[in-house]
Amino acid sequence: QAAASGTAHAKVILLGEHAVVHGAPAIALPVHSLALTASVTRTDRPLWIDSVLYRGPIAAAPELLAAPVTALAETLRFTGAPATGLTVRIDGEIPAERGLGSSAAVAAAISTAVARAAGVELGARERFDLIQAAERVAHGTPSGLDARAVVSDTAVWFQRGDVRALPSAFTGVFVIADTGLHGRTREAVGGVAALKAADPARVERILDRIAALTAAAAGDLAADARAALGERMTETHRMLAELTVSSPELDRLVGAATAAGALGAKLTGGGRGGCVLALADTPVDAARIAAGLRAAGAERTWMPAARPGLTPG
Ligand code: MEV
Repeated sequence: QAAASGTAHAKVILLGEHAVVHGAPAIALPVHSLALTASVTRTDRPLWIDSVLYRGPIAAAPELLAAPVTALAETLRFTGAPATGLTVRIDGEIPAERGLGSSAAVAAAISTAVARAAGVELGARERFDLIQAAERVAHGTPSGLDARAVVSDTAVWFQRGDVRALPSAFTGVFVIADTGLHGRTREAVGGVAALKAADPARVERILDRIAALTAAAAGDLAADARAALGERMTETHRMLAELTVSSPELDRLVGAATAAGALGAKLTGGGRGGCVLALADTPVDAARIAAGLRAAGAERTWMPAARPGLTPG
């Protein structure tokens, strides 16, 4: 019998990853079909974690779990609850290190559940701060976009810490395809920073262009301008490749999506591995594009609900 639980879901970044770290806006979509739950039960053991990756006392958890352990410890400190006598169990799965927000989602679910077990319902700001503490352990200098997107019911517009829900009547269908390779967000973010230091004018130009494409995309979502949005996605992929965050596998899947009739496609999230996001005009097109992506080597594809999270907000 769980004393309390918390949930969170995956996210995809529609446009603006990496640029968002440098102050540009970004748009992220919730992926409700990939979700996880943290459940807290009271025991007479020390603090314990029960997940597919590890089952045992927190004190002996592997380095791989450093971020969720941070979320747990920080939440206990925030609530003033004793750091013992609780088991935190994680169910459900968001593939890790694929740019789908798994690290932020695990932290979100744990903090919500652990706070609830102590009788505290976290406010949005408090939960954000707890997720960010874990995200800093996971990949250094997180913009905060993932921390907002994994608990949002709607698409979000995010810039410099500010977030707002993006209402939308969009009818396009998204396809997510996993290269099967681990994304390397920390390295990719570092790569962009190094490039910016070496050639600031060029990188600023690229970041400005991504920011303009992202701003226009918010209008596309509202106006259901599917073809225009697709073109902006593909152009953004080229910009991200110039920023060195693509990879041959990601480029190949973007090409395969377009060849199979996608309106546009791009890498999504941190890059250098992880996933591609493609836009289809209709569900029938989406099924064909997903098959094309798997034939081109995608390990898995997902077609989140026809309108992933794009409900009026
Ligand atoms: C990672 O999902 C998105 C990045 O923009 C990093 C961040 O926003 O912190 C690459």
